[in-house]
Amino acid sequence: MSEHSSKIMLITGASSGIGEATARTAAKAGLRLILTARRGDLLEKLATEIGQDKALAVPADITNFDTLKQVVAQGVKHFGGLDVVFANAGTGTSTPGTENGDPAEWQKMIDLNINALLYTAKLTLPHLRKSTGHFIMTGSVAGKITLKGSIYGATKWFVQGFGNNLAEEMREWNGRCTTIAPGMVNTPFFDEPKPNKLDPQDVADAVMHAINANPRNNVREVFLMPRY
Ligand SMILES: NC(=O)c1ccc[n+]([C@@H]2O[C@H](COP(=O)([O-])OP(=O)(O)OC[C@H]3O[C@@H](n4cnc5c(N)ncnc54)[C@H](OP(=O)(O)O)[C@@H]3O)[C@@H](O)[C@H]2O)c1
Repeated sequence: MSEHSSKIMLITGASSGIGEATARTAAKAGLRLILTARRGDLLEKLATEIGQDKALAVPADITNFDTLKQVVAQGVKHFGGLDVVFANAGTGTSTPGTENGDPAEWQKMIDLNINALLYTAKLTLPHLRKSTGHFIMTGSVAGKITLKGSIYGATKWFVQGFGNNLAEEMREWNGRCTTIAPGMVNTPFFDEPKPNKLDPQDVADAVMHAINANPRNNVREVFLMPRY
């Protein structure tokens, strides 16, 4: 167990892919977890596997501010505080590009990739301030490069920019803020498996690197790409 073994961590998008792998990895390192996503059955299964004393499953659609407020309140009450937040939930679109894109799909994606990220930060910062804690968010390589017509990429440019701004705000009270920017990861984000790309475990390891860094070290960004 690491010296951070007693930390309490909220993970959004914990029901699959990167969030699920990070939950398992953080639990092995001894962190206690508040897990949220919409699919309660998957969250319950994961929490049972981790151990009900170490993980609390709180199903929610986090694009609703009041719903997310309840998740944070319930989690903090259950474990008695909050040290780390992994704002990871995100989605893409099935219709690529701008001219051919679907505004209804954009709305859902923006609600999650942008608004829910902001809600997660606003609702957890008062708790992280108390613990001098750590806010971690999932950006993407798509937020660092130009991708023809990509609205998804544009939402991740938002994450990248917000991550930098939030890090400066949190510096006022010595909080840590990290943006994790992966290239393609083999998760249910894609309809087809991507076995030669990054594994969700690689991203989970990057998250743990930021958490386990010496307290003097604020890992501001981890950018990881598949080798092939
Ligand atoms: N896979 C990649 O190549 C890749 C690369 C770079 C960045 N990313 C980013 O990584 C993050 C995680 O994606 P992933 O690849 O792990 O895909 P994933 O397996 O599809 O995970 C997405 C997670 O978000 C949750 N979610 C979706 N809508 C939600 C809502 N309204 N409220 C609460 N939770 C919601 C999903 O759970 P429910 O459906 O149960 O709600 C799921 O747990 C995303 O931000 C994505 O943009 C992915």
